[in-house]
Amino acid sequence: MYLCICRAIRERDVDAAVRAGARKPSDVFRACGKSPQCGGCACDLRERIAHTVREEASRPALMAAD
Ligand code: FES
Repeated sequence: MYLCICRAIRERDVDAAVRAGARKPSDVFRACGKSPQCGGCACDLRERIAHTVREEASRPALMAAD
């Protein structure tokens, strides 16, 4: 699903950006190599970032191999 219509940024793009360290909409734009146009997606991007950060935090940590 597209969250940013102007720049064609999808949920999965936001998720990938969050896993790479993005924590705010401007980080997501940077990670996608795009810049904001109308800014109408900022709220949706923030919500998705928060959702993905929570999801990543709730994942069990991978155990290091001995
Ligand atoms: S909807 Fe994202 S910049 Fe317009």
